[in-house]
Amino acid sequence: MQAEQAQAQPQPTEPTYVWWQRGIIYEVYPHSFMDSNGDGVGDLKGLISRFDYLRWLGIDAVWLSPIYPSPMKDFGYDVADYTAIHPRFGTMEDFDRLVRETHAHDIKLILDFVPNHSSDQHPWFIESRSSRDNPKRDWYIWHDPAPGGGPPNNWLSNFGGGAWEYDPKTAQYYYHAFLREQPDLNWRNPQLVEAMLNVLRFWLERGVDGFRVDVLWHLIKDDQFRHNPPNPYWREGADPYQKLLELHSTDQAEVHAVVTRMRRLVDQYQDRVLIGEIYLPVERLVQYYGIDLSGVHVPFNFQLLLAKWNARDIARIIAEYEAALPKGGWPNWVLGNHDRSRIASRVGPTQARLAAMLLLTLRGTPTLYYGDEIGMRDVEIQPAKVQDPFEKTVPGLGLGRDPQRTPMQWTAAKNAGFTEGEPWLPIAEDYPQINVEAERDDPFSMLSLYSRLIKVRRCESALEVGVLEPVETTGDLLSYVRRDGESAFLVALNFGTKPETLNISGKGFEGRITLSTWLNRSADSVRGDLYIRPEEGLLVRLLTQTQSGDVLI
Ligand code: GLC
Repeated sequence: MQAEQAQAQPQPTEPTYVWWQRGIIYEVYPHSFMDSNGDGVGDLKGLISRFDYLRWLGIDAVWLSPIYPSPMKDFGYDVADYTAIHPRFGTMEDFDRLVRETHAHDIKLILDFVPNHSSDQHPWFIESRSSRDNPKRDWYIWHDPAPGGGPPNNWLSNFGGGAWEYDPKTAQYYYHAFLREQPDLNWRNPQLVEAMLNVLRFWLERGVDGFRVDVLWHLIKDDQFRHNPPNPYWREGADPYQKLLELHSTDQAEVHAVVTRMRRLVDQYQDRVLIGEIYLPVERLVQYYGIDLSGVHVPFNFQLLLAKWNARDIARIIAEYEAALPKGGWPNWVLGNHDRSRIASRVGPTQARLAAMLLLTLRGTPTLYYGDEIGMRDVEIQPAKVQDPFEKTVPGLGLGRDPQRTPMQWTAAKNAGFTEGEPWLPIAEDYPQINVEAERDDPFSMLSLYSRLIKVRRCESALEVGVLEPVETTGDLLSYVRRDGESAFLVALNFGTKPETLNISGKGFEGRITLSTWLNRSADSVRGDLYIRPEEGLLVRLLTQTQSGDVLI
């Protein structure tokens, strides 16, 4: 009877987590991952041939930058057809195989969705610009010249110069937040919204597991097109786009209704994810979770890309971010992407090992950029080899993104095993040492560190989904505990060049070292003072006293 009663007691329900909460996202820049046909540019077949590696590495999802037909003015972020594959990357059959192979390897596939603008070669824009009364005129953002002539307002293009292009045929300007070959779509037009939601449906039906939505905070602009105010902090020599604050051209309140439409659609399919590319301060970023989490699942958190690289700033960022998250909003951290200098170049190769431990032990979905796991660095590009339009339109300020987009380094063979042909961007000179094949067999390599960190993370719910408890530290030391029920890990990262100690018994801890970024450190038991070498990161499994006095490991 007693047993029956006990059974009838409501059991506390274990929280459940979906794949994109537990998982690790890996960005593949398709031009540079693997070339299968010798044209020097990566392709879908090449990517498929590397799935065994991705499975071995232990990532859970591939986010693939755009693979759609495009004049490639912005390397695929100028889409000329949203529901087809650029022949450079393969065919729709190859794509369907890609979906099958991804899933056969127990990996998810996330596509890049570029809704803010199309290519000027998209048939919609060709129609739109053909006359003022064309039915698709309003699918883009057209405006009369300012009274007295000239562009309608002072808005700037992210890629340099003004954001308005005059079209003599119809005597109006169109708006382009990026290149003039990337006219902005008008998300205030209901037909355009329907057409774009149909694009999402098309790929969802083909089996993709979600989308990374390009420049999501840009989709809606001020309906009165008011001038943007000057940025008082801008200084000569900085990115000219930053001269103005993007007050009226981005992050408008009405954008959230658009995001909700996308989310509702994605939710009609099982287990899909919506990720937003959003560069905004934290308090505005978290608005994109939406009211009652009706927005994107993952508003990309880029703070590690932009942070000053020191323990105090990063501790502050973690605390502020955790505090800003809405109830139930799942955190995430991004360490690299195709738009930013690579981590090994930003902070140097030793600190990049610390960064790997940070990324893979923080609370929230980690996103890593292809090649960062082997320690690839930015490659200096000679002027004659420059591809990126940003470097061409705003030269000499170090804004170009080719350095971080160079081909993946697979082996020490010719062209790093990336292509049989002439690679579209130069291969890093360090490829004979920095490559997957060499690093897989080297226990001290960056790749070995990543693979161990990923394996530990995948096995330990404390690291995958546990809470994060900051540990008070000063100076160059950053520390926190990740805990899930009885299981807990202490992370201690020494950003400085002098040894540090952390008195862990004083905090009630004892434990055993699971992993060091130095790697040649034994699995010592630690109590009392934890000694952390210069620029070392330590992951320590905490031994928890149970009530019965047993020590759980
Ligand atoms: C996003 C992309 C970037 C692209 C821009 C315009 O920021 O990540 O590569 O140039 O949007 O589409």
